[in-house]
Amino acid sequence: MSNQVSVSATALDAAARLISESSHMVVLVGAGLSVESGVPTFRGPGGLWTRLGQPSMNGYRQFLDDPAAWWEHQMDQTADPARTEFREAIDRAEPNSGHHALAELEGMGLLKMTITQNVDNLHFKAGSIRVAEIHGNRTKLRCIECESRWPRDELAIDSLPPTCPECGGLVKGDTVMFGEPIPPGVLDICFAEVARCDCIVVAGTSATVYPAASFPGLVRESGGSVIEANPNETPLTDLADVILRGPTTEALPLIVERLKELKS
Ligand code: APR
Repeated sequence: MSNQVSVSATALDAAARLISESSHMVVLVGAGLSVESGVPTFRGPGGLWTRLGQPSMNGYRQFLDDPAAWWEHQMDQTADPARTEFREAIDRAEPNSGHHALAELEGMGLLKMTITQNVDNLHFKAGSIRVAEIHGNRTKLRCIECESRWPRDELAIDSLPPTCPECGGLVKGDTVMFGEPIPPGVLDICFAEVARCDCIVVAGTSATVYPAASFPGLVRESGGSVIEANPNETPLTDLADVILRGPTTEALPLIVERLKELKS
């Protein structure tokens, strides 16, 4: 049975043309890209926050007020069902055809940077190299002072809270919490890429969390094009030059196919 393609051929051709004519294409990724890898979205039907409630907006304040207590809570596997479900889904997850399509676009020299809001590490697993993780990476720890990062199992934690061997600063999970500033180093990279970007693909995000949600508008303002890849409408839909209305596991591989045809 042929796979019923839901994304329109006209839109795919238009998107491929914009990307092939671009000189600095960037993709902004959201949780939708990892849906087919078994990682839940946050909002919308079946989303983690929809089902289990959004985490407190002052989580970062709580961490700063009592980092040792925060770490004890983090290490208690039963304390937070949403976090447990999310962690277990990420531990099981493998990259899907959407992640591999982005890695291929990078390899073709067309995709200059993947700015991802996802913390699931799946872009690196798929072979992407140029990835800015604006909301961090669940498999890493980070010093909140000097932004040093380590894989979770490579920093010896012999007392709580752990401190940075580089600068003595407080160490926490790399995932950016509500109320936590985006680490300046990764934010600078994102804004530098957006400033050079002349074509942004917005893939699988509800475009509701800032500053990431502001990037497509900045690209538009500087004369660049916006391509939305999402089965549903978002606040960015009206801004988009091209809309790929379908799952990214379908849209992104079809874009790669068309770009290979254009190159041949
Ligand atoms: N393919 C592509 N997109 C999909 C798919 C799919 N198969 N299924 C759902 N989506 C889309 C939804 O339509 C929605 O627009 O994925 C988006 C998921 O939206 P959110 O759950 O809000 O996720 P995201 O946009 O990544 O959230 C941004 O909010 O909670 C914080 O830090 C968290 O990074 C996250 C940020």
